[in-house]
Amino acid sequence: MIKRLLVTGAGGRLGHHLREPLKGSAEILRLSDIVDISPAARGEEVVQCDLADREAVDALASDCDMILHLGAISGEASFDALLQGNFLGTYNLYEAARKAGVRRILFASTNHVIGFHAVGETLDHKSERRPDSLYGVSKCFGEDLSRFYYDKFGLETACLRIGSCFEAPKDRRMLSTWLSPRDFLSLVRKLIEVPTIGHLVLYGVSANRDAWWSNAHADFLGWKPRDTSEPYREAIEQSEKQPAEGSHYQGGRLAAIGILGKR
Ligand code: NAI
Repeated sequence: MIKRLLVTGAGGRLGHHLREPLKGSAEILRLSDIVDISPAARGEEVVQCDLADREAVDALASDCDMILHLGAISGEASFDALLQGNFLGTYNLYEAARKAGVRRILFASTNHVIGFHAVGETLDHKSERRPDSLYGVSKCFGEDLSRFYYDKFGLETACLRIGSCFEAPKDRRMLSTWLSPRDFLSLVRKLIEVPTIGHLVLYGVSANRDAWWSNAHADFLGWKPRDTSEPYREAIEQSEKQPAEGSHYQGGRLAAIGILGKR
């Protein structure tokens, strides 16, 4: 078991899901967010930290073996906001990780890095990135930065292009993009446990019938998603009769709207 796992964005939706179950994956979980998520439970350290604050992030990463980097603005936002939370925050984290000798980062990327591909195209890790939003662009930056830190310094990263991680799929698009919290947890655990990952790009998606993304290149991980959106299909197809905004793009609505919702 690794000694200390840092989780950024631990106060968010996914961080909240993982806080308890990840306890078995590291002796100490260092949980961090820009918002206060104290108190620390047994086996936890809690650090309130803005990822845009370089000195604070240097201290945050010290003594950590791995990092699950969830902390970010997690949807479309102004460039100035993304500049702080996603561009600068991710740079600060990688630089701090390098200085601290961190072995591996699991970077929460997004399907919105490929959101302008058409629905029906099957993509893999080599498909061209076509971000559908400034948010998607900020995650492309994170993916490239991670590649640079791997090639230059050997710092391993798994870029997880998460689909839609919710308790249940909510609309037709999510019948293809859904990632169950249980599958997300098993993927994160696997990526912590495997001895070597190098630089890996993979899609966070459950075993959905109409998934658009292939992880065939990552079979060596031995990760098999267990859930599928199929049980939800009938109810969703009944309730959503008309195509939703942006439904011909993989990124859905984010591809269809202008910057910050303006056309
Ligand atoms: P969330 O918005 O619920 O959580 C993100 C957390 O990051 C929040 O607690 C927020 O306070 C924190 N944060 C924001 N700016 C920060 C800063 N400057 N410094 C420190 N912390 C900061 O998002 P969620 O759903 O938990 O997603 C986690 C990660 O996964 C995000 O990076 C998101 O982009 C990515 N993702 C999530 C998907 C999903 O289906 N939930 C889909 C695709 C990607």
